[in-house]
Amino acid sequence: MKPAIEIISERISGAIQKATGQNVPAIVTAATDAKFGDYQSNNALALAKQLKANPRQLAEKIIAELQIDDICQKPEIAGAGFINLRLKPEFVIENLKKLNSSKEALGIEKAKKSQTVVVDFSGPNIAKAMHVGHLRSTILGDCICRMLEQQGHDVIRQNHIGDWGTQFGMLCCALYEKKAEEETRKGKGAWDYKVLADLEAFYREAQELYNKDEEFRQRARDAVLKLHTGDQMWLSYWEDIVKCSKRHYEEIYRELNVSLTDKDVRGESFYKDKLADVVKELKKLGLAVESDGAICVFPEGFKTKESEPLPFIIQKSDGAFLYATTDLAAIRYRVNELKADEIIYVTDARQKLHFEMLFAVAKMAGWVKDTKLVHITFGSVLGEDGKPLKTRSGENVKLKELLDEAVKRAKSVVEEKNPELKTSEKETIANAVGIGAVKYADYSNNRTSDYIFSFDKMLAMDGNTAPYMQYAYARVKSIGRKGEEKGINTVGELKGIKEIYLNEPAELELAKQLIRYGEAFNSAIADFKPNFLTGYLYELAAKFSAFYNACPVLDAERKIRPSRLLLCELTARTIRHGLENLLGIKTIERM
Ligand code: ARG
Repeated sequence: MKPAIEIISERISGAIQKATGQNVPAIVTAATDAKFGDYQSNNALALAKQLKANPRQLAEKIIAELQIDDICQKPEIAGAGFINLRLKPEFVIENLKKLNSSKEALGIEKAKKSQTVVVDFSGPNIAKAMHVGHLRSTILGDCICRMLEQQGHDVIRQNHIGDWGTQFGMLCCALYEKKAEEETRKGKGAWDYKVLADLEAFYREAQELYNKDEEFRQRARDAVLKLHTGDQMWLSYWEDIVKCSKRHYEEIYRELNVSLTDKDVRGESFYKDKLADVVKELKKLGLAVESDGAICVFPEGFKTKESEPLPFIIQKSDGAFLYATTDLAAIRYRVNELKADEIIYVTDARQKLHFEMLFAVAKMAGWVKDTKLVHITFGSVLGEDGKPLKTRSGENVKLKELLDEAVKRAKSVVEEKNPELKTSEKETIANAVGIGAVKYADYSNNRTSDYIFSFDKMLAMDGNTAPYMQYAYARVKSIGRKGEEKGINTVGELKGIKEIYLNEPAELELAKQLIRYGEAFNSAIADFKPNFLTGYLYELAAKFSAFYNACPVLDAERKIRPSRLLLCELTARTIRHGLENLLGIKTIERM
């Protein structure tokens, strides 16, 4: 089902063409105030400047050519030359019927052509606990995948974990020495891998050793050289560290209800045998040159502050390859082996330059021709003091602790509101609300801005939050149960529905919002901004609330009851689809 805004835009473009001969895209937005109607076009104003004409007269000319009476009431001109449009109730009713048919995903259209899209997201670094920075990449990436799949694309998730950097020399070496020490003390075989249970602490310990002990540094450098040339012993230490670390983040993914599994992991180590070739090829192409002992590519248009060419370093003077080299190998793999039509990278804004240079180099080398490359960035998560979120002692806040805390707080809310529920039910609700609140708070902020992390705000029952939306959903669902208590067969009445009535203003308002789900989806996916979805859902819940206050449903006249039940049903389905299918947030039947 094509969103109304798109049909209107096409018609407006057509009318402009006829009235002025100009071929311009329509500028149509949702009206900011219901008194202006539902949609508004300011094309006449924009064009009048260009054509040196009177905007109101131009608007009249456009309207004279505009064929839209199957969708809208008579267009009106307002202010300096805005064209205001109001949907006809008949059109809204037709669209509601379409929404109700199972063929339509509540009005979200499939893409014209299904494509293979690689989405690179999450990418935690092994041996370090995931922190809030990874939260945004993980859940934003997840939402992007869900939206693309909704459109019918073939999505390949790639978790580009940091599992092959130089820090593994230090880590493997520390592990090796710890083991040897323990075995000298307690005898052979006494060693177990418990030391890896707290990977973060282990990482810190190794890091300290590395920083203060020059001899250890040398041993670590030797270890990494051996590891990177395929030494079996060092590989087995590396594997143990990776395994323990994976366990940690897989647990987080499960908790977050994120669609990432072990088969999506294709970390840096996967590309280790392809790195030398990347450098060789770039040299052969004449793109990679030696500069201060390192091998670099200087992509066109990138300059340092001093206006010198900016290097994209692909091999250090000691022969080591870098993050950049791995990403070049990964791009080739994704284009050639995964046959990507598009590759989307989801990381924080600080990596902007890295990806710009990466894309430039890959294109210069001819490795990327028709594949679209996109870097989706996001801002930082801040503490209530407006500074990057840290613990009191100044460390990164661990994601696991943060999620546990959210669930704990949600639990006390449930405990207070619904003490009579069974413990297991309380737990399910607390989980859905706590995790949902963290995710929803992130999604509802414009991804490019920083936002302040506040448990109080995200767990508030009023406002644009997960608990509010989950409560709204549960409230709609409760109508069916109340019907049952009253001996009303709501399901049967809905099935037998003959007419839809939108006579009350609140009914019409709610119905108009329902048919705009596809429009909201299109806005969200156009620039991968989930806040368009949360904003839409919030407005839907508000319109439902207004409707429910103004219009009795179960006590409605028998003739119009099925129509009102349909509005309830479509509201519930839309909220559920938005939360569960697109945002990966669980809904609850009763709260
Ligand atoms: N491991 C990286 C980090 O934590 C993110 C990886 C992003 N993906 C990529 N292909 N570079 O910053």
